[in-house]
Amino acid sequence: MKKIDWNTIVKPEVMAISGYHLAKHDFTIKLDQNENPFGVPESLRDEILRRLSARDWSRYPDFQMQHLTARIAEYAGVPAEQVVVGNGSNSLIQALFWVALAPGDRMVVTEPTFSLYAQFARMLGAEVAVCRLQADTFALPVDDLRRAIADPRVKMLVLCSPNNPTGNRFSLTEIEALAAEFDGLLVLDEAYREFSEQDARPLLERFENVVLLRTFSKAFALAGLRIGYLLAAPVLCEQVKKARVPYSVNLMAETAADVCLDHLDVLQKRIREIVRLREELLQALVRMQRIRAFPSDANFVLIRTDEPKRLFQFLLEDGILVRDVTGYPMLEQCLRISIGTQTENQQLLKRLEQWETA
Ligand SMILES: Cc1ncc(COP(=O)(O)O)c(C=O)c1O
Repeated sequence: MKKIDWNTIVKPEVMAISGYHLAKHDFTIKLDQNENPFGVPESLRDEILRRLSARDWSRYPDFQMQHLTARIAEYAGVPAEQVVVGNGSNSLIQALFWVALAPGDRMVVTEPTFSLYAQFARMLGAEVAVCRLQADTFALPVDDLRRAIADPRVKMLVLCSPNNPTGNRFSLTEIEALAAEFDGLLVLDEAYREFSEQDARPLLERFENVVLLRTFSKAFALAGLRIGYLLAAPVLCEQVKKARVPYSVNLMAETAADVCLDHLDVLQKRIREIVRLREELLQALVRMQRIRAFPSDANFVLIRTDEPKRLFQFLLEDGILVRDVTGYPMLEQCLRISIGTQTENQQLLKRLEQWETA
């Protein structure tokens, strides 16, 4: 076989990255990916399939996705020219970075946070500057961020609120102050927005440099179908559309998103239930001795414990899969647990009570 020196083909920036790994485990209760535990309601599933069946699968979807873009714009409360729909918000992070980051540019990001931002930026040859969140509260390190964005090479500041994997939201006043001070793009990932009372959308009316990223994967239970959207200034949206893979939102995803937007009342009821279950779980966790639970504005909670790796295995032995986040800076003692159904949370609590005395 002809052999290749792969270092001559693959960019060194890509070779240097370890990539996103998700270990495989057997489980009965899945609390590791912040998915919606209720799934898509049966009646909506039927409607999605009925509408999908009536469409012509041999034809490409609408290139501009005009209908869905207009519907999302209405839901988000912005004009349609401020919306870009994509194949999950991950693909829009990629498209946005492709548009804005060149080799040698700098991106500032907090840590710990969603790891994809730094990974994509590095692949494009951009430098990543990291500012650590405040100890214990995971609040924004405002002074550090202000110093970091003062560097003229900084093109982009990426924040995630509510933040994954810590669960807390950042102060809107602080985000606003950063947007005002910074001449680059302030990208705010709001994947978990629907579980929080905070909405950064009004910032779009005051700051042309603010970009919001949102998704149907969490609140609307469509993680498997891949629908996300970006809200930004019309000029930037036009550019991001150039970088979006054509037709990457397929007919099924488009149909499902449309049906969800027709039944917001049903879905919002479920979102409220997830928030109620989160608060119920947090109240129970607060009483535990070996576990410290952090407040959350998302559909998951972060816990700190004395032996996180052992607790991870202890839960898995009972069929409960959570996320081991001990590899993140500041979270060496932590696990992240998605909010499940009432029954799932009860089984989780029962197992954690056993852990207390194990
Ligand atoms: C902060 C954050 N942004 C984006 C995503 C990806 O969302 P999507 O499914 O829309 O690609 C996730 C998924 O876990 C996330 O936690």
